[in-house]
Amino acid sequence: MSQPTILGIESTCDETAAAVVTGHTLRSNVVASSMDEHARYGGVIPEIASRAHAQAFTPVVSKALSDAGLDLADIDAIAVSAGPGLAGCLAVGVSGAKALAWAAGKPIYGVNHVIGHVAVTQLQFGALPANTMALIVSGGHTSLLHVDDIARHIDVVGTTLDDAAGECFDKVARLLGFPYPGGPHIDEHARRGDPHAIRVPQGLTQGNAGKRHPYDFSFSGVKTAVARWIEQRQAAGEAVPVDDVCASLAASVADVLATKAMRGCEQYGSDTLIVGGGFSANSQLRAALLEQGERHGVDVRLPERALCTDNGAMVAMLGVNLVEAGVHPSPLDFPIDSAMPL
Ligand code: KG4
Ligand code: ZN
Repeated sequence: MSQPTILGIESTCDETAAAVVTGHTLRSNVVASSMDEHARYGGVIPEIASRAHAQAFTPVVSKALSDAGLDLADIDAIAVSAGPGLAGCLAVGVSGAKALAWAAGKPIYGVNHVIGHVAVTQLQFGALPANTMALIVSGGHTSLLHVDDIARHIDVVGTTLDDAAGECFDKVARLLGFPYPGGPHIDEHARRGDPHAIRVPQGLTQGNAGKRHPYDFSFSGVKTAVARWIEQRQAAGEAVPVDDVCASLAASVADVLATKAMRGCEQYGSDTLIVGGGFSANSQLRAALLEQGERHGVDVRLPERALCTDNGAMVAMLGVNLVEAGVHPSPLDFPIDSAMPL
C-alpha cells in the first residue's frame, strides 16, 4: 500500500472531529465544537462534552467521508485518539470508531492525541526530518518532545509539572473578567501593553530549574504571582492595567517556552522544531520562537491555526505514519486511557 487513505477521528475534549488523509494530502477536515455550550460555565464540562460527541459523531464522520468523495469501504484504516483526554469523551469517539471498523472490516489504530499534534505538521511542511524536537502547547498539555521515529518512539524531554500554559492564561483571564477561553483575549491585550511593566516569575527557568528539571515547565506559580498582584491592586482600590498585566504574563510564558525549546534543540543537535496545540496560535509565543529560532539556526515549523487546534487531520496523519511504518493495528478491545503516556 503506497499511499494509505486513513479516516481519523478525534474526541478527546470539546471537539468532535473527523478527517481523511491520503499519504500527506488532506482530503477533508470536519470539526464540530461544543465550546459555546461550555463558555457560560467558564470551562469544559465533561458531561456536556460527552453528550455533544454522541450527537455529532455520525454527522461529522459521514461529512468527512462525503467531502473526500469516499465511502467507508474506500479507506484503508481508521485511526482514533484513545487518550489522553476526558474519559467520557474518549469513550464516545473510540466506541464509534470501533463500531465502524468492525462493521466495515477495517483495521483500527488507537493513537496518542499529543503525538497527533506533531504528526499534523507533515500536511503543511512535508515529512518530519530525523532528529526533530516538538513543542506541543495547549489548554491541556505542555510537552517538549524529541522525535526520531514518530511511529515507534518519542522521548519526553520536558513536561509541565502543574498547569499547562493555556490553562494558566485561561485562569488569569478569568480574574481579568474575560470570557472562556481567555487565552486569545490575553494575546489581544498583550499587544498593547508593556511586557516589562510587572515582574512575572519565570516558571522553572535557568536560575531555578536545577538539575532535576532542566526542560520541565511550571506555570502554576506564574499564575499565582499574577493573581496576587491583581488582587493587591484591587484591594488598594487601584485600577488594574490590563494591557500591561497581559503583556507581562505573555512575555514571561513565551520566553520560557521558547528558551527551553531552543535549549532542547541544542542538547539533541536538532535543527527543526515542530510546534503544535491550540496555544501555539499565541502571537507572543510565535514571535519568541521565530526570533530565537533565527538566532539559533533552528527551522521553526509553525502550522496554520486550523492545524494547531484539535482536529481529525492530526489523527489521520498519524494513522498514515503507523500504516507506512508497518505497525500492527490495535485489537478491537483496546482501552481508552485518559492519562495516556507518550
Ligand atoms: O488545543 P486547544 O484548542 O485545546 C486543548 O487541547 O486544550 O487549546 C486551547 C487552549 C486554551 O487554553 C486557549 O486559551 C489557548 O489554547 N489559546 C490561546 C490562544 N489561542 C488559544 N492562548 C493564548 N493566545 C492565543 N492566541
Ligand atoms: Zn490537543
